[in-house]
Amino acid sequence: MFTIKDHLEVRNDHLMIGGADTTELAQKYGTPLYVTNESRVIENFSEYTKAFPDADIYYAAKANGSFAILRMLAREGAGADVFSYGELYMALLAGIPRGKILFNGNSKTDFELRKAVELGVKVSVDSRDELHTLSEIAEKAGKTAEIAFRVNPDVSPKTHPKISTGLSSSKFGIPSKEVVGIYREASQLPGISPCGIHCHIGSQILETAPFVEATQKMMDLVEKVTGAGIDLEFVDMGSGLGIPYKKGEDTPKPRDLADAILPVFDERTEELGISPKLILEPGRYIIADTTILLTKVNTVKKAARNFVGVDAGFNLLIRPAMYESYHYVVVANKVASKPEETYTIVGPICETGDILAEDRELPRVEKGDIIALLDAGAYGFSMSSQYNGRPRCAEILVNDGNSDVIRSAEDVGDLMGKQKLPARLM
Ligand code: LLP
Repeated sequence: MFTIKDHLEVRNDHLMIGGADTTELAQKYGTPLYVTNESRVIENFSEYTKAFPDADIYYAAKANGSFAILRMLAREGAGADVFSYGELYMALLAGIPRGKILFNGNSKTDFELRKAVELGVKVSVDSRDELHTLSEIAEKAGKTAEIAFRVNPDVSPKTHPKISTGLSSSKFGIPSKEVVGIYREASQLPGISPCGIHCHIGSQILETAPFVEATQKMMDLVEKVTGAGIDLEFVDMGSGLGIPYKKGEDTPKPRDLADAILPVFDERTEELGISPKLILEPGRYIIADTTILLTKVNTVKKAARNFVGVDAGFNLLIRPAMYESYHYVVVANKVASKPEETYTIVGPICETGDILAEDRELPRVEKGDIIALLDAGAYGFSMSSQYNGRPRCAEILVNDGNSDVIRSAEDVGDLMGKQKLPARLM
């Protein structure tokens, strides 16, 4: 037995996850299939809590909002970063305490703001317009909304442009120069209690320097806002810590992030004589490497390239098509066999861009083989769709060799879903 990537082992040429043989899982539950290793989720979360013992960790539900995952993290003491009423609803249902939820978003509906007020969760306010709407809603409800402002610290996270969020050109946050003014304004408004500050600079960030720069810039703002007489109870630094999608890639861990940013945070808060709670909102680091996507080979075709056609496409894992993301690939039933050819793994979707992995050296691939795409837990299922009339696949949780369905596969009935026909079309 040997290990291919941390918790993923190989036994008799088969890929094992959480003590379960992936080829048996594929046979038992069918493919495509998302498989999550329960203990790995807990390990990743506790890596964060150990690195940041004084911080609150708000899991970013958008990365993977499956109910069982939210429930596991709730039991570990996680809070949640939610970006919609749907995510808020699921987080509360999973038992995440309302006091540990931050409702984020750059374009919330009035309904969502009303729900946030009614349910008493903190809101990260992204614009002056939103501030005023929220004030009216809270006043009308006879409540006070605890808010942070999402600020735009103008830091380059050196990641894919589509997931850079803290650049001055991005749609997120209040520009730094307007921050003090908006806190002053907020402190005068009915129904509003400005008590936190929030930023998030991007995702899949592979070095600590951008986080240090963001912390410095945020602490400059904390100083100014505190100087304007506002008590900040929390500083939420968002998230963005990347993971090594490529084998052997050396990326910072939560411990490295803590070593890089905590000295800045601690020194500056001490200087100011304040003790705000630090909040972090990791999504990818907690869940990405816990999960694999198993997909069966339908056809192998030598054409311009050596194409392997599998039963999962960008309907189930859109990251490669959307961000040119790399996911490590193995043939789950031949993991230890020698690579023999270069293959490009493509899905069944009617688009040329439906490529899951390009030019990979793999053992000889045949119809019926099971391909595993690794590190598919973050922004995998949560970004899936039914495009091309493809019902979504099942999700399985494995632990100590046992497996449970945490989401049943959809079937064609789910394609009809809530659709209706006007009477004239009956
Ligand atoms: N907090 C806020 C406000 C966010 O917008 C995000 C992610 C997170 C936390 C979590 O960041 P993480 O720890 O996962 O880096 N779909 C893209 C990633 C989009 C990230 C959106 N915001 C992907 O597949 O790479």
